Amino acid sequence: MRVDIQPVETWASRVADLWTSRLLDQPTLRMCLATGATPVPVYAEMGRRVAAGAVSFARATVFVLDEWLGLPPGHEVRCDSMLQRDLLAHVDLDPGRVHTFDVDDGDPAAECRTYDAAIRDGGLDLAILGLGRNGHLGMNEPGTVFDAPTRIVELAEETRLGAARYGELATSPTHGVTVGLGPIGDAAEVWLLVRGAEKAGILSRVLEGPVGPDIPATRLRLHPRGLVLADADAVSS
Ligand code: PGA
Repeated sequence: MRVDIQPVETWASRVADLWTSRLLDQPTLRMCLATGATPVPVYAEMGRRVAAGAVSFARATVFVLDEWLGLPPGHEVRCDSMLQRDLLAHVDLDPGRVHTFDVDDGDPAAECRTYDAAIRDGGLDLAILGLGRNGHLGMNEPGTVFDAPTRIVELAEETRLGAARYGELATSPTHGVTVGLGPIGDAAEVWLLVRGAEKAGILSRVLEGPVGPDIPATRLRLHPRGLVLADADAVSS
């Protein structure tokens, strides 16, 4: 695993530069993408680059990383809604190659198996992830084994309460579905995006603490092409 630290002002363009170069090298890139606050400036920058004709997602494939259970379709906190708002509305991805969890038809466990198989059928070239305040990746909460498949999960309290950061919620979801640490770890390349001083404590544990399920993001330390892309605020102590 490598660690790349950038000034706050240039962090998003640095990530976008790397991403642009991957897409130019391999236009059919198969990616797993996080939602949440962290990647928003990167997604905005990629939208500007697509508009300027500097890069295209037209032949790429995307799998959204996770989804809450119990929120109705179109809810602003849903991960598929956030991906639409923050990225898909601004880039030229073919909607037929965007995978989101279909959790509205009653059998999320079956949907997870289908989703896992679709990821493994072709694999992932790149996973772009955020870092949870408790060290989770996607909704792989502390205690998750490193080979966990895509599945239904019970959310940690911190994650449940944190959902309200993304919009209005009558009640916080208690469960979600997530791409597992297994398929994430099998991606050819995994990037962990981390920005802001509020992540400094957990990032230092990811980088220097013991590797293991207590901090799922430490899985990246074992990945030959794991890359932490942090801004300077996230590494200040
Ligand atoms: P954030 O969420 O990007 O909104 O900070 C990251 C996470 O909890 O996985």
